[in-house]
Amino acid sequence: MRGEPLHDGIVLVILAMAPMVLLALLFIRAPYGRHQKGGFGPSLPARAAWVVMEIPTLVVFVGAFALGPRRAELVPLVLAALWLVHYGDRTLLYPLRIRPSGKPTAWVVAGWGFIFQVANSYVNGGWLSSEQAAYAPGWLADPRFVIGALLFVAGLVGNRWADHVLRTLRKPGETGYVIPRGGLYELVSCPNYLTETVMWWGWALATWSLPGLAFALFTSANLLPRAVSHHRWYREQFGENYPAERKAVLPFVL
Ligand SMILES: NC(=O)c1ccc[n+]([C@@H]2O[C@H](COP(=O)([O-])OP(=O)(O)OC[C@H]3O[C@@H](n4cnc5c(N)ncnc54)[C@H](OP(=O)(O)O)[C@@H]3O)[C@@H](O)[C@H]2O)c1
Repeated sequence: MRGEPLHDGIVLVILAMAPMVLLALLFIRAPYGRHQKGGFGPSLPARAAWVVMEIPTLVVFVGAFALGPRRAELVPLVLAALWLVHYGDRTLLYPLRIRPSGKPTAWVVAGWGFIFQVANSYVNGGWLSSEQAAYAPGWLADPRFVIGALLFVAGLVGNRWADHVLRTLRKPGETGYVIPRGGLYELVSCPNYLTETVMWWGWALATWSLPGLAFALFTSANLLPRAVSHHRWYREQFGENYPAERKAVLPFVL
């Protein structure tokens, strides 16, 4: 905790929301992509939706970071660089990589993503350069940083590979679904969500912070049930053609 009411309040809200989101998503499929359905109001193109949802991870994160007294110190800058490498790509390049024929996203989903990321980016960026964070230069050799950063980078690389596989399943103009094959896809239906979750647990470890922990818990609560929904959907859709031994998101377990 930083002892700053807005920061601490947001962190507590994210922590409290994680179990609620987990519970809700066990019963409701978040209505975007293949689980999209009517009744959620107007929508916007998927590419634009990604920019709307993720732009706070650059603007708010950098703003909150720049306001902190430790903004010029080495460790906060290294940690901020990890975040910005991922979110620079996710916000500005990923939307260009996905096919424009992708399904539109409801404004309510994009708006919720935007609000969440304003709050999440504010606490993560603000924490790193805050007086209270006080990372010594030796933190970069600390096992928590080293293991966390390795998990983050491994998750990032795996996530981009998994997204790439999905993106190349369709020929230009196609909108249907294909069984993904190869690598981690032989073990689980959603390596993209597995690797994303690994990334944020790596972030929590490398930053050794409550905002980092809150985001890792929230990501797990958000993506693990969605992976189960995707997995069930694949089974419903492809029946016996879907590899029987494949799990949803945790190899050999779930
Ligand atoms: N940190 C977080 O909390 C968080 C939250 C959400 C997403 N993310 C990340 O954002 C990225 C995208 O997430 P997402 O939920 O949009 O993933 P997704 O539902 O798997 O879809 C990714 C893209 O691939 C297409 N696609 C998926 N499966 C396909 C198949 N079997 N055949 C053909 N095309 C397929 C989708 O098309 P359609 O749109 O037509 O389905 C979409 O364009 C992932 O890396 C994820 O980890 C992170």
